[in-house]
Amino acid sequence: MPALLITGAQWGDEGKGRATDLLGSRVDYVVKFNGGNNAGHTVVVGDEKYALHLLPSGILTPGVTPVIANGVVVDLEVLLHELEALSARGVDVSRLKISANAHVITSYHRTLDKVTERFLGKRQIGTTGRGIGPAYADKINRVGIRIQDIFDENILRQKVEAALEFKNQVLVKIYNRRAIDPEEVIADLLSYRERIRPMVCDTGLLLHNALKEGKTVLYEAGQATMLDIDHGTYPFVTSSNATSGGAITGSGVAPQHLDRVIAVVKAYATRVGSGPFPTELFDESGDYLRKQGFEFGTTTGRPRRCGWYDAPIARYAARINGVTDFVLTKLDVLSGLETIPVCVGYDVKGERFDEVPVNQSDFHHATPIYQEFPGWSEDISNSREFSDLPKNAQDYILALEEMSGARISAIGVGPEREQVVVRHPLTDD
Ligand code: GDP
Ligand code: IMO
Ligand code: MG
Repeated sequence: MPALLITGAQWGDEGKGRATDLLGSRVDYVVKFNGGNNAGHTVVVGDEKYALHLLPSGILTPGVTPVIANGVVVDLEVLLHELEALSARGVDVSRLKISANAHVITSYHRTLDKVTERFLGKRQIGTTGRGIGPAYADKINRVGIRIQDIFDENILRQKVEAALEFKNQVLVKIYNRRAIDPEEVIADLLSYRERIRPMVCDTGLLLHNALKEGKTVLYEAGQATMLDIDHGTYPFVTSSNATSGGAITGSGVAPQHLDRVIAVVKAYATRVGSGPFPTELFDESGDYLRKQGFEFGTTTGRPRRCGWYDAPIARYAARINGVTDFVLTKLDVLSGLETIPVCVGYDVKGERFDEVPVNQSDFHHATPIYQEFPGWSEDISNSREFSDLPKNAQDYILALEEMSGARISAIGVGPEREQVVVRHPLTDD
């Protein structure tokens, strides 16, 4: 009963969409279990480039059933827009299933996301502004709206009115904004009802039955380990569990089914938004990585902060997620560098840390301790076997593998589908 997970080992944008696409038709179901349209997963297929936000990237593979599970927060306007845009490009989206228990992002969540960030000023998190945090806050606060509520107008009205009673006070009295009319929100949500009706079901049961029949289910995380609400660099995180535990609670499938945990990790590191990032580069090396790696956000277009590979973070991700395989992406971006530094530990006010410090202030003040590796000048984008790679690139991969706590099973040498070196198959068949 194979269930696989793909998540990010760093701060997002590692190439999860691309890794999902690698598994292609060996998968029967692809499940998004956390986050919402804060994610931006890019898949390049020939001349076509797709950017997926709310939908799992597996939707691009013919025959795969995409599932938006209970742990996701769904902006229905974005969902329908994304479905229409993909349909227009010839992608079959007819199989999509959405959990009746998933929560919805409404206009007041988007508004609150923006005004709270503005209010935080210099202390802002740098969110994507999509309403993710406020929607999850309502879920935990037990004043959220679920997909199933849209099918009972009476319940929907009660819930929206209850949610806005408090929020409108906050919006008007604290943020000096106009109150939101519950009727507008209700009308907006009801307007999507008939279009989503055929997609809504008990996705937990659907996936349970699929696994019982021996189908392969792939969980595709949004965000990544260091952005996880529990295990990331809190409060500079997203509001959901992107780690492997999130796939269990976020989908209603029991943990024993998860037999492969794949973490995607870049051959260097990037981060969007605020928060600690020990290996961040503020010099021309950072600009070089940004330019060579085209490090600009898929969702917001923001330039990504860039830095060197951080081995304790990869090791942390391996431990938290139970990683069985790493997919190392963007190795090609490092071609041409004379030496490549890798962070092997941190110095915090004179004290050495070999692992990610548990105390957030220590992590904020961590200075990386680097080990330098010799680079390579060859273009590696046509390498398909490990032995095709220059010796220094091979040694770099083997050193990262040794330091990162799990085997490196595939290596990205370019954004295209076939630009990959597979060392160990990612599925058992
Ligand atoms: P995700 O959010 O984890 O799915 O990652 P994004 O799609 O936001 O960012 C990853 C970017 O790297 C995308 O533009 C991919 O096309 C690109 N990419 C993925 N793997 C490779 C690789 O091995 N080499 C290069 N040059 N680009 C890659
Ligand atoms: P993918 O799936 C990179 C970051 C935001 C911000 C913080 C909180 O493409 O890897 P949120 O809007 O979630 O409340 O923002 O998390 N963030 C991401 N960074 N990749 C992502 O997704 C991200 N999703 C959220 O920039 O710092
Ligand atoms: Mg992304």
